[in-house]
Amino acid sequence: MAAPPLSPCSRAQGNVYYKIEKTATAKPIRTIPLHQIQIRNLEFYPPLLLAPMAGLTHSALRQIFSGFGGVGLLSTEMLSAKSLPTENPKVSPCLIRTVLEKPLSYQLLISTDREIIPAIDALHKLHADAIDLNMGCPARSVGNLGAGFSLMEQPENARRIVVEARKRTQLPLTAKIRLGVELDEQALKAFCTMLEDEGIDMLSVHARLKKESFARRPRWEWIAKIKEWLRIPVIANGGIFTVQDAKDCLRVCGADGLMLGRGAVVKPWLFAEIARDLYDCNIVEPLVFLPVVYGNFTDLVNELFRPERRLGRLKKFTHYFGRNYKFGHQLVSSIQGSNSMEEARERAGIFFENNT
Ligand SMILES: Cc1cc2nc3c(=O)[nH]c(=O)nc-3n(C[C@H](O)[C@H](O)[C@H](O)COP(=O)(O)O)c2cc1C
Repeated sequence: MAAPPLSPCSRAQGNVYYKIEKTATAKPIRTIPLHQIQIRNLEFYPPLLLAPMAGLTHSALRQIFSGFGGVGLLSTEMLSAKSLPTENPKVSPCLIRTVLEKPLSYQLLISTDREIIPAIDALHKLHADAIDLNMGCPARSVGNLGAGFSLMEQPENARRIVVEARKRTQLPLTAKIRLGVELDEQALKAFCTMLEDEGIDMLSVHARLKKESFARRPRWEWIAKIKEWLRIPVIANGGIFTVQDAKDCLRVCGADGLMLGRGAVVKPWLFAEIARDLYDCNIVEPLVFLPVVYGNFTDLVNELFRPERRLGRLKKFTHYFGRNYKFGHQLVSSIQGSNSMEEARERAGIFFENNT
């Protein structure tokens, strides 16, 4: 999608557009970068990206996001590079995809450069629009494989993987990282510039350290540092749950774009709201009726996935979506306790009747 016409509150500076944000006080006016992202042949606007999330960013939820609009780049969840080449894309819930979900980045969970060739060849066959390398997942099970965040701890291995991947594909190649084990500007700079020098086209930064929980305030100010070091687009991730969070994050770090995770699962219309409010996108104001959103999600899960793959995904979605309700924990626990999709649907219906 081309960048929409600038609103009267915007002004152009070269190819980059800045929206002037007036602050309530007489403090200096802040600017928010407002430009499309181009990485190789892929251009997207608004610069709003879906964060990869295991068990959540599958075709059903991606279709819900696309229905509301405002997502610039969608994502799969992390895909094991080892098993990807033998997965059946018509059956695997991580690979099922419809034409509505575009552009779509595929994230690889990888531990060695030996896995690159078969994995990337498989992604070419799947018509990936971009390939992301997971270098940020701190889970112990992932670390034990030498993948995810452990690549930040083994920069030479990470380099070999990027070099090999860059040789194998012309697709946009991106990476997603955290800030490190501890705050170490020199180590972080060396890692980020290595990624750029070896051919990474865009970097997403989850602004937390390895062991920091999702409850901690993200360190957006560190993304501002990374932005200064690199020429490639830098995307800010972590802790964006509202339009105001999006504005605050951009004011603090000046990132080229934003990546939304849990906030978008709670409110699948959040992309649309941010796209309208910050990026002047011509998107219909989202009309949200929560039971309909939930019902649509349930229908899509039923349509797309094999029976044994459905309930777990509904439970995971409900864990976040329930936060829209004051007594959402009741919805979450009643769905958690369901033994079938039918039972879950019935229980959800009762909850919605009692919680308008
Ligand atoms: C349930 C769940 C699954 C996740 N799975 C992945 C994943 O597959 N790959 C990845 O790079 N990050 C994963 N993440 C991290 C998110 O992409 C994101 O970095 C994190 O949730 C912070 O962003 P947020 O505050 O917008 O949610 C996951 C997070 C959650 C909550």
